Amino acid sequence: MVQIKVEKAKIDQKQTPLLVIGVFENEQDFQQSKELDPSVLAYIKETLDNKEFRGTFGSNILVYTLGKGPMKKIILLGLGKREKFSDELARVCAGKAALKARELGAREFSILQFSNLDEGLVEAMTEGMALALYSFAKYKASKESTKIEDITILINSDSPRFQSVAEKAAFVIESVNFARDLSNMPPNDCPPAYLASAALSLASDYGMKVRVIERYEMENMGMGGVIAVGKGSYNPPKMIILEYNGAGDGQKPYLLVGKAVTFDTGGISIKPGDKMDEMKFDKCGGCNVLALMRAVASMKLAVNVVGIVPSVENMPSGTSYRPGDIVKMYNGKTVEVLNTDAEGRMILADALAYGIATYSPKAVVDMATLTGAAIIALGSNVAALVGNNKQLTDRIRRLAEKTGEKMWDLPLYDEFHEQIKSTYADIKNIGGRPGGAITAAAFLSNFVNSTPWVHMDIAGTAWTQDGTFEKSYNPKGATGFGIRTLVKMLMEDEKQPAS
Ligand code: BES
Ligand code: MN
Ligand code: ZN
Repeated sequence: MVQIKVEKAKIDQKQTPLLVIGVFENEQDFQQSKELDPSVLAYIKETLDNKEFRGTFGSNILVYTLGKGPMKKIILLGLGKREKFSDELARVCAGKAALKARELGAREFSILQFSNLDEGLVEAMTEGMALALYSFAKYKASKESTKIEDITILINSDSPRFQSVAEKAAFVIESVNFARDLSNMPPNDCPPAYLASAALSLASDYGMKVRVIERYEMENMGMGGVIAVGKGSYNPPKMIILEYNGAGDGQKPYLLVGKAVTFDTGGISIKPGDKMDEMKFDKCGGCNVLALMRAVASMKLAVNVVGIVPSVENMPSGTSYRPGDIVKMYNGKTVEVLNTDAEGRMILADALAYGIATYSPKAVVDMATLTGAAIIALGSNVAALVGNNKQLTDRIRRLAEKTGEKMWDLPLYDEFHEQIKSTYADIKNIGGRPGGAITAAAFLSNFVNSTPWVHMDIAGTAWTQDGTFEKSYNPKGATGFGIRTLVKMLMEDEKQPAS
């Protein structure tokens, strides 16, 4: 991955092939303009005066310095209106700068702090660039010709604080990009066993406990949900468990659970063919959880976290589970299967019940591409939160406001539980079209007892799809949505250990 460092430097001294300078809309002055060579500055002022470049959001021009100064070229990058600027826009603008630099064939470049220096700005700029430069090239014969290796963020302070903010941010993005790499894998090369082996590597690389529960063990343990969904596929299901112990044995862990359906055909209730290829992304929640475990372990956070990733392939075959089947779940509840395409909740249910029974966590968050209904409710740019604990939901939403990962909560009123009552079993696995994202969560709530729990439906946000708002820092494919927010939650907990 690209190296990003922070340096206090005067731009008249910084030797660099390319310098990016952010300019606010209709402002004549910009950061450290006085340090530029007078003739270069005069040229820039002229383009600003004659409105050739006005600093509108997303615009840019290239200025050649012709040997006048230590930088060969300058990109002026429009930041838009100053009043509207935010960390999220800094993230987007920094991403644009990195993409532009790559387009110009730069192997390294420098970028001036966009606005007043604070930790949020440095974090956002680092994230935007490291996320934007991601690409999934594993299956391409010709790799990209240019790769940016080094970026320096030039700031007007020599406090080491900002260096460590950038380092931490880059660490987190490494894990986000790890999630993207796994999530983008094609389903033929990424059966549940592949995710299990990825977890084994993480455990040995970062010092975590790992356990992969095999199909026969799950049968013995009574994990009927995972067994049912997995049995239509030649690729056996796996229950992947990673434990990170950063706070010592006395502290209750957080439990993270992620849906990893390596391919979702719908099973016997088969999906229409249109865009079925996108159902390789039905493993994104699970990949995000693996990446979160990687993040906390690589940063050695002083928290305890358990990650559980139930992984299956949902296929139609002579051995598939069927509509009408009644399945006994890990916690003893029975589920009438009325649609085999509502498979995510079946596997999450066992993982949640098992995780809570085994680890008595202080809080649980699950991430899943669970319902098309979440996209109908909130679109493709906002994830749905549903939970049983307002404090935890509010906390995640507050953190999401900082990371730019948009989330909104939906209510889990009693009425929704009525919709999933079954004639023949305790509950059924679908609740009809109305409120589909919430009835899915109502189903899950049967497996979490009273532990504080939030379910994050990332069906619309886990990868770039129809309706996705284009962002420089989200290249086509898996986004790793939600990881940055949950890392923040775990880091915050580290600072204020719960009683
Ligand atoms: N993985 C899908 C949900 C999904 C669909 C995510 C499209 C992203 C884009 C899930 O397993 C599913 O098929 N859900 C069904 C549930 C229904 C049968 C109750 C759905 O949303 O249609
Ligand atoms: Mn499905
Ligand atoms: Zn699915």
